[in-house]
Amino acid sequence: MTTSFFTRFASLLFLTFVLTNCVYHAEEVLYPSEPEPEPVIDTCNIPSVVSYDRDVEPLLVKHYCVACHENADPAGGITLEGYGRVTPYIENGSLLGSIRYEQGFDPMPKGYPRMPDCEVEMIRVWIEQGYPNN
Ligand code: HEC
Repeated sequence: MTTSFFTRFASLLFLTFVLTNCVYHAEEVLYPSEPEPEPVIDTCNIPSVVSYDRDVEPLLVKHYCVACHENADPAGGITLEGYGRVTPYIENGSLLGSIRYEQGFDPMPKGYPRMPDCEVEMIRVWIEQGYPNN
């Protein structure tokens, strides 16, 4: 029986494929790659200078913080309406503690989904920058 050039060529291709695949898998087993470092919130665009008016306050509105912690009938006696009313909760650590679900703080926003990491990070960076009224 004569084997056509094509058949031989095809078998060779197939064999090459199988072999390289084996080598590939063996390599993975022999040299497992280092675990990837945690992504640094890659969809997050935190400006170099975070602004209260442009970045932080809209988040407090979006996550209903201001709706509950309004001046007229503040939930828990806490008002977050306006920069000057927010700062005490930065200084006592409860704002960051509560949005990060840290132990010892009431998790916020109460009754709503947890804030995305990126948005929490935005507020954290602003606080780290000295929480300017900008
Ligand atoms: C549905 C109403 C509601 C929403 C929305 C809400 N809070 Fe609160 N928050 C409360 C109540 C009520 C308390 C008092 C503690 C409690 O009952 O859990 C409180 C307590 C707090 C405290 C004090 C926590 C502590 O442990 O001392 C902070 C700070 C706070 N809220 C910030 C926020 C922020 C920031 C948001 C938005 C991300 C938010 N809250 C959203 C109702 C709300």
